[in-house]
Amino acid sequence: MSNSVESITVTDNRTGNSVEIPIQSGGVSSTEWAKLLGNIWYYDPGLGQTAMVESSIAEINGEEGILRYRGYPIEQLAENATYLEVAYLLINGELPNKKQYQQWELDITHHTYLHENFRRRFFESFHYDAHPMGILISTIAALSTFYPEAKNVDDPQIRMRHINRLIAKIPTAAAGAQRFSSGLPLVFPDNDLDYITNFLSMMFKIAEPRYECDPVIKQALEKLFILHADHGQNCSTFAARVVGSAQTDPYSSVAAATAALYGPLHGGANEAVLKMLAGIGSYDQVEGFIESVKGGQGRLMGFGHRVYKNYDPRARIIKKAADQVFEVTGKNHLLDIALKLEEHALADEYFISRNLYPNVDFYSGLIYEALGFDPDMFTVLFAIPRTAGWLAHWNEAREQQGRIMRPRQLYTGEGKRDFVPLSKRPKSPK
Ligand code: CMC
Repeated sequence: MSNSVESITVTDNRTGNSVEIPIQSGGVSSTEWAKLLGNIWYYDPGLGQTAMVESSIAEINGEEGILRYRGYPIEQLAENATYLEVAYLLINGELPNKKQYQQWELDITHHTYLHENFRRRFFESFHYDAHPMGILISTIAALSTFYPEAKNVDDPQIRMRHINRLIAKIPTAAAGAQRFSSGLPLVFPDNDLDYITNFLSMMFKIAEPRYECDPVIKQALEKLFILHADHGQNCSTFAARVVGSAQTDPYSSVAAATAALYGPLHGGANEAVLKMLAGIGSYDQVEGFIESVKGGQGRLMGFGHRVYKNYDPRARIIKKAADQVFEVTGKNHLLDIALKLEEHALADEYFISRNLYPNVDFYSGLIYEALGFDPDMFTVLFAIPRTAGWLAHWNEAREQQGRIMRPRQLYTGEGKRDFVPLSKRPKSPK
């Protein structure tokens, strides 16, 4: 092997045999490892040290607090782009030119409707207080049955058609889930409106002929959508890639990703943050709450990240956007508690030593609430833009023609033992 490449050498002390493994793109190939250690599995709970794919979609540098989509810094995209431009970029690899953008917007706008069965029967079948995330997961999964063609996952044109459909329909599904849980009639998409305003219209329109939206509010949601659009191999994207690796259609793969996002350690954190802030209740209780977290009673939701060991760059942008929104909507009453919580946590040895900083979810809920969304919609608001990221990864995996995901395990259970009939088993179990 050439000495010009950086490498590591692994020696099996049982045999004295060695293998030299080149370091490529910051990783070492398991294929080389397996040449020496075929049956020794790399034990990595939570996969914190495992790169399971090569991807060219999002670059994250956790030490320096950097996030880029296809090379473009998140700060520049959040400041200058529309969400649909970013969705195009994630999926196609390049920003669209004017003609491409117009076509993309037109394509998305003309697939916003859900089949009438959803409005008439599907939503109606849920319990009146169903969580909108539960409804959303089911709606996305159900869409796969309406588009069996999407099973042709090796056909790039068909893939693109359904990527387009999903990005177009997810706001309709999301708004439908919320309107149903609030007992309000569903609002049809208005194809003359842009992506963000159309979603807001489906959420909030009552009897007025056309929903009018404050430009500051639209801009804030656009920014939030851009910031949430992708984040590398996070838990839900991993779920999309795992399910997609079995050559599963995009709707079912995205339904799985949405289910992963639902959890409070992932996308569910924004809802949990707001509940946490409301639970703290007042400014005076902040110190006591921090002590209870340090004492092991729960986590400081919206803090910490597997990758960022520095301030999450998305949180910085959101904090700034929050100020602009509050100028229009009035300050969220929980903001002071959040600011004090951040200040105290960032000065506390427990949080400093563990590199725990505010993440994307710490302030987003405060904005969502100020915009008029119920807390149980917050994770749905994460799912809408992340759909573009999930689909970009799902598509990238199909282009790469990757193998089915199938990790190993370290078996720690019983050795072989013989079956004992029910009548002969001891009365009191071990
Ligand atoms: N509050 C208090 N302690 C924490 C927190 C927190 N939010 N996060 C991590 N720790 C502690 C944890 O107890 C552990 O301490 P020790 O070493 O003494 O056992 C140490 O920090 C390392 O924690 P970990 O669980 O090994 O870290 P992880 O990388 O597995 O977890 C995380 C990452 C995001 C799940 C976690 O930080 C967390 O639970 N945060 C709160 C939930 C949250 O805000 N999630 C949103 C993440 S960003 C949006 C997204 O992409 O989903």
